[in-house]
Order: sequence, then C-alpha cells, then structure tokens
Amino acid sequence: MSSDRRIYGLLAEFDEADQLLAAARAAREAGYTRLEAYSPFPVHGLTNALGFHHTRLPFIVLIGGIVGALGGFFMQWYASVIDYPINIGGRPLNSWPAFIIITFELTILCAGLAAVLGMLALNGLPQPYHPLFNIPRFELASLSSFFLSLQRRDPKFDLTETRRFLESLNPKSIYEVPVLPIQGGVSSSTLLPVLILLALCSINCDEGPMTNKGRIKPHEPHPFFSDSNSARPIPQGAVSRDQPSASAIPDNFPFQITRKDLLRGQDRYNIYCSVCHGYTGDGDGMIVRRGFTKPPSFHIDRLRAAPPGYIVNVITNGFGAMYSYSDRVNMDDRWRIAAYIRALQLSQHADPQKLPASDQSAIQKISQ
Ligand code: HEC
Repeated sequence: MSSDRRIYGLLAEFDEADQLLAAARAAREAGYTRLEAYSPFPVHGLTNALGFHHTRLPFIVLIGGIVGALGGFFMQWYASVIDYPINIGGRPLNSWPAFIIITFELTILCAGLAAVLGMLALNGLPQPYHPLFNIPRFELASLSSFFLSLQRRDPKFDLTETRRFLESLNPKSIYEVPVLPIQGGVSSSTLLPVLILLALCSINCDEGPMTNKGRIKPHEPHPFFSDSNSARPIPQGAVSRDQPSASAIPDNFPFQITRKDLLRGQDRYNIYCSVCHGYTGDGDGMIVRRGFTKPPSFHIDRLRAAPPGYIVNVITNGFGAMYSYSDRVNMDDRWRIAAYIRALQLSQHADPQKLPASDQSAIQKISQ
C-alpha cells in the first residue's frame, strides 16, 4: 500500500464502454476492491463487474419505520394514560385502536425520512468537493469518456504496481489524483455566479408590480373619502357582536334556586369551570397547573361579597384572561353555576354553630 497520503488514487481514461467494462472486470480479478467507474451513460453489466453489493438501506428504512411506529404509539399512550389522563364517558384510557392512525402515519413518515436521509448518508452526500474534480479531463465523464478509478485506501494499492497494472489495460491516459485541489483548480468559482444571481433576484423581487399597491397604512390619509380619513368612524348605534350589554343582568337570582338547580350548577361547574378554577374554587385547576393564568380563589372576601349577578356577568362576557362562556352555558345554567359557587364559598366559611348537630359532633371528634 502506498504511504503517500496526498494521493487519492489513480484514474484511467478509456474511449469505449467495452474497454471500461473489461478494465473493471480485470481490476476485480486482480483483487482490487476500492474501485469506481464513471461513464456518460449506464453501461450494461458494469455494476456487476464492479461488484456492487446490496446496500443497508432497506434495513435503515425498517429501523426508521419501527422507531416511527413505536414512537407514535408511545407518544399517544403516554399522553392519554400517564401524562394527561382524561375520563371521557368512562372510555378506557389506553384505547389502542384510536392510536392506530397516527402510529401508521408516523411509521410512514419516519421510514420515508430514513430512506431519504439514509440514502444521502450512504452515498456520502452532499459532497461539494471530490478529489476527482482536480483532473480537468474528468469533466468528460458526463460527455464522451469512460473512467476507472482505483483508490489509495485499497489494501492492494501501490502507486507503481497499480500504474503498471492500469497500463496493461491500454487506457487512453492515466492520471494521478491528488487529494487536495491543485492551486487555481476547480474551486468555489462555480458557486459564485449562483450567489450573484440569487442576490440580484432578491433585489428585484421587491420591485415587482404586486407590491405596495392599494394598501393603506393605519391612519394614513386617503383621497377616496371626503374627509381624507382612511380610518372610518364606527357608524352610530353599532353594537359589537361579542359584547352584549351587561346592564341586562340583575344582581340577584331571577328564579328560586332549588336543590335540583344546585346539582345542575355543580354539574356544569365541574364541566366548564373546574378545569381552571379547581373543584373547590381555589383556582388550581388542571389548565392552571399546566401554565394558564391563575384565577383568583372564589373564597377571597371580594368575590364572596360580589352578588351572583356578577358571576353571571363574568360567565357571559368573560373577564381579563378568562373568555366568555355564553356560547356554551345558557342563561339559566349560568345562574345555577353562580348558585353552586355560592355553595362552594359557604363550604369554606360555614359557621360551625349553624351545622346540624350530627355534623357538629363529627367535627368535635376530629378536632379532639
Ligand atoms: C380557561 C380557564 C378558565 C375557565 C375554564 C374559567 N375561568 Fe374564570 N377565570 C379564569 C382566569 C384566568 C380568571 C382571572 C382573569 C384575570 O384576572 O385576568 C378568572 C376569573 C374568574 C372570576 C373572577 C373575576 C374577578 O372579579 O376576579 C370568576 C367569578 C370566574 N372566573 C368564574 C368562572 C366560571 C363561573 C367559570 C365556568 C363557567 C369559569 N370562570 C371558567 C380562568 C378560567
């Protein structure tokens, strides 16, 4: 093996495809393994002559697919069973048939990505530089000439021996291929025109006929209107669609609250409000624990003193970071929720003297 590390290998040029084919066969028979052929068109039998082997790509694709399938399934299983279990109508948390579609999609996605990226990696792409580009005549590989390269990393490679062997194949010429570019050889000069073209294009794109036309900046004057004001005033008497007037909501319950209403209020509260305000109204619901703005506790004095109409108003119109629930909770249910919040508030501030005797004795037992 040659010790000259500045040499990539030897390149032989042939005029005919048949010569290349014969040379490749001869090189393989002579024991060379690191060889590569270049021709302007596919030459029948050349891959066999070079000893192409099956690639590992199918295996990589299989691994990609398995990773995608397991990852997709695990992601859903972890989300629905471990991290964020939600009981929906008593359905099982680990309902694997529901996970199949995404598992399938991710299998395809990861297998596809593995195929493309694996193909690029196995081919050693992208490869902006290759030592063979140092041989000017190598450009003919895509036009009219046929090349066979024997590489230095081949255990059988020896500069003089290998050259002698190549000469015996009657090539048109033989080149010694350096690893690094020869001064002034093919370099980044091919990239430069592309960069200049891109730069020119990006300058020009701003000047196209589609830009800067017919668009008015906020508060920019415009001659179309008699007062030259492009920002038009809101017509008189216009009512915003999402701000129904709050004055229509009375302070106190418009109907008698029964036990049934309270239970309905509890039901609606647990569905719509508990996710943020928590089941006890402390403001520590699941969404808040996941990072949503923490609402105030319902047990602070200000909200205990607020009339039920105030809560109905908040449900109807939203409040600060909390959005309106008017499209999900009807007016009567809003009052029932307000009544239930009253009950929650009472639960935290109840006067022990007013409890039934049985509860009072239970409390005494606990506190002893
Ligand atoms: C998505 C989370 C979320 C849900 C669901 C939610 N709220 Fe709120 N709520 C908040 C937040 C956050 C605040 C505090 C808003 C602020 O101060 O900007 C708040 C504030 C309030 C207030 C207090 C307003 C004040 O004066 O401080 C009341 C009353 C209230 N919510 C009632 C309800 C009711 C009733 C429901 C169910 C219909 C409900 N909220 C559902 C997040 C939520």
